[in-house]
Amino acid sequence: MVERYAVIGNPIAHSKSPQIHAAFAKQTGQHISYEAILAPIDGFVATVKSLITQGYKGANVTVPFKFEAFNLCNFLHENAKSSGAYAVNTLIFNGNYNEIDGENTDGIGLRTDILQNLGFSIENKDILILGAGGAAHGILNSLLGAKSITIANRTSEKAMEWISGIYDTGDYRIRVNKFEELDTPFDLIVNATSAGLTGEKLPLSDKIFNSSTLAYDMMYGVETPFMAQARANGAQVADGLGMLVEQAAEAFCMWRGVRPETAPVIKMMRTY
Ligand code: ATR
Repeated sequence: MVERYAVIGNPIAHSKSPQIHAAFAKQTGQHISYEAILAPIDGFVATVKSLITQGYKGANVTVPFKFEAFNLCNFLHENAKSSGAYAVNTLIFNGNYNEIDGENTDGIGLRTDILQNLGFSIENKDILILGAGGAAHGILNSLLGAKSITIANRTSEKAMEWISGIYDTGDYRIRVNKFEELDTPFDLIVNATSAGLTGEKLPLSDKIFNSSTLAYDMMYGVETPFMAQARANGAQVADGLGMLVEQAAEAFCMWRGVRPETAPVIKMMRTY
């Protein structure tokens, strides 16, 4: 029997998740379907209820519903539970609206892409995370272990509120800065803002990049102004396609109990 899964978001037409999960299913011989579903901005919960009623087994969640998804879960897995996440991108349905499991696989996806696919170690590195929304929440935990983590957000108070809720901001590892205060190079810069969606340029100094910086944009499929600025300043640049495939593999593994190989799928998606 074919078991049904989906990704829910708004907008969603751009999503590559259906092709990725179709490739995983083919590779592992799993009988699943996976489609992209556009939920109205105020209709996330109703959409989830409808999927459960129709017998769907699980779903991925993307912008802007990751916080709502977190609040919907009756049981949180390890990464979703970790301090500071408050956001979920993977739901497991157990046949009942009151029995939804949630996990956040974004952090593991990012970490695997950076460490294994790009061969970049975060140990002893100074990391800058741009953004304080759902995407940033999902990845913070996966980067702990670096020498330092700085978070900068357009609305600085939002970053402050998030971090002071979980870590003492006097903690040497995590600090919050305004964009315009950033004027020294970082080893790794992760763009977790959604500015790239609208092609908006972040007000970042060229000084934060140098030739040993890895500038990682969680967006994929477009060269964002962030990536262009990093490239112009000699940094190594990566988009979020590898992370997308890795986080999908984690979700697939949770749902199906089988771990797909990601390298051939990343390669295939690059040629799309
Ligand atoms: P996501 O789940 O993708 O993180 P989100 O929760 O809506 O989506 O968060 C979007 C993030 O991108 C926020 O950090 C937002 O900054 P604000 O908190 O100030 O809104 C950031 N962002 C979006 N557009 C931006 C822009 N043009 N310039 C700078 N930051 C931007």
